[in-house]
Amino acid sequence: MANHIIIKKKIISFKKKICVSGDKSISIRWVLFASIASGISKVKNLLISEDVMAAIDIIRKFGIRVLKRKDFFIIFGKGIDGYIYKKNTVINAGNSATLGRLILGLIINSTNTVKLIGDKSLSKRDFKRVTSPLSKFGAKFKLRKNFSLPLTIQGLKNLKPIKYFEKRGSAQCKSAVILAAMRANGTTYIKAKKSRDHTERMMKNLKLPIRIYKRRNHDLIQVKKVKKIRAINYNIPSDISSSAFFLVLTALSNNSELTIKSVNINSSRTGIITILKKMGVNIIFQNKKIYRGEEIADIKIKSCKLIKPINCPVSLNARAIDEFLVIFLVAARANGVSYFKGLSELNKKESPRLKWGSKILSKMGVKNFTTKNSIKIFGNPALKVDKKIIINNYLNDHRVFMTSVVAALSFGGLWKIHNSKSIKTSFPDFLKIINQLKKNEKETKYNQNSN
Ligand code: S3P
Repeated sequence: MANHIIIKKKIISFKKKICVSGDKSISIRWVLFASIASGISKVKNLLISEDVMAAIDIIRKFGIRVLKRKDFFIIFGKGIDGYIYKKNTVINAGNSATLGRLILGLIINSTNTVKLIGDKSLSKRDFKRVTSPLSKFGAKFKLRKNFSLPLTIQGLKNLKPIKYFEKRGSAQCKSAVILAAMRANGTTYIKAKKSRDHTERMMKNLKLPIRIYKRRNHDLIQVKKVKKIRAINYNIPSDISSSAFFLVLTALSNNSELTIKSVNINSSRTGIITILKKMGVNIIFQNKKIYRGEEIADIKIKSCKLIKPINCPVSLNARAIDEFLVIFLVAARANGVSYFKGLSELNKKESPRLKWGSKILSKMGVKNFTTKNSIKIFGNPALKVDKKIIINNYLNDHRVFMTSVVAALSFGGLWKIHNSKSIKTSFPDFLKIINQLKKNEKETKYNQNSN
């Protein structure tokens, strides 16, 4: 069966309210915390995607029971030390670096050796960034020479607390260390460059022994040994990273308006909102509320007639790290040159995304200068694409696929975008929602398996 989509024309104007799927970062964290809680945890709106299902498969390997009901999941946690470590256990994090890195923190006290594997893309990514701090707790790791997967971990019962300075702005590294610290004898001290803080908020909500001192550019975090975690019922808010594709599509479409319901607007994730506002886009939050320590709101956005270029402050990088590919499309339509810098981390994602951002723009005929960590984009408010563009061989990076779809629907041209199945990792409903926005149109309906 074909695994690509063809897009032949721009989307026509739309005015809609939509819901996008549950937040991936929170979904994975909920699965992990519920698995070591004491008792039964229930969740609604868990993201049903390959990355989250991989998390469920992994906790099942450690003897944790999980049930799927019609519109919720149940996890039967067996307590903080409830994992069973059978000999020769192999766990597969699939495409998810969040899962692969966080789970290592959680199994830092494994009583047998555990092998961690992942898919082709994950197997190219750097794991030394987590095994290096985690080994200071006392666990032993074996990695391949280039620090990638597969790796093995042999945990330790008596773990020493550590002092750790997280300099990249990586929530994955920070969270892996926080999870390990919950098992160490004493207080772990972390100084972390600002990054998404769902792990910390979940721990605070569960009244676990974590203290956070916010500073301008970093947080000081102290974590003590955790004795017990109570079961945690949760209703996962929608994912701002998935919403981002629709925000940009609306901003770039004519005479359109969109409301996205109940999105997590945790300020460590809203870089895209700040950036789009700076570029002149009209966005507002409505019905704001707090749920389990996370901020939630409906996001309302209108199409933007005149987009301003941006010299994007590096302080926004971690807050928009997963959205830059699609933000680059907005810069392509801007009335001048936009500049994004300090972005070397982007090339360390599911695919080298800075390179892919540049590649997509170049294919569209948008002039750009790219270095190892920056990109200058020469915007054109009259930009139209009227050629054939093929997107292929991008390590099946879901965000490259979805960005390309938004580009095709915003700028025109004839696009053949390979591997529609890539969306299964983070946002299986993506094309379904695109079809909802195209409801008034008679033509093409996109299907993830064929077209
Ligand atoms: C994530 C953190 C980010 C982000 C990823 C999800 C998380 O990675 O890119 O998609 O849930 O902690 P880094 O923390 O490595 O930047």
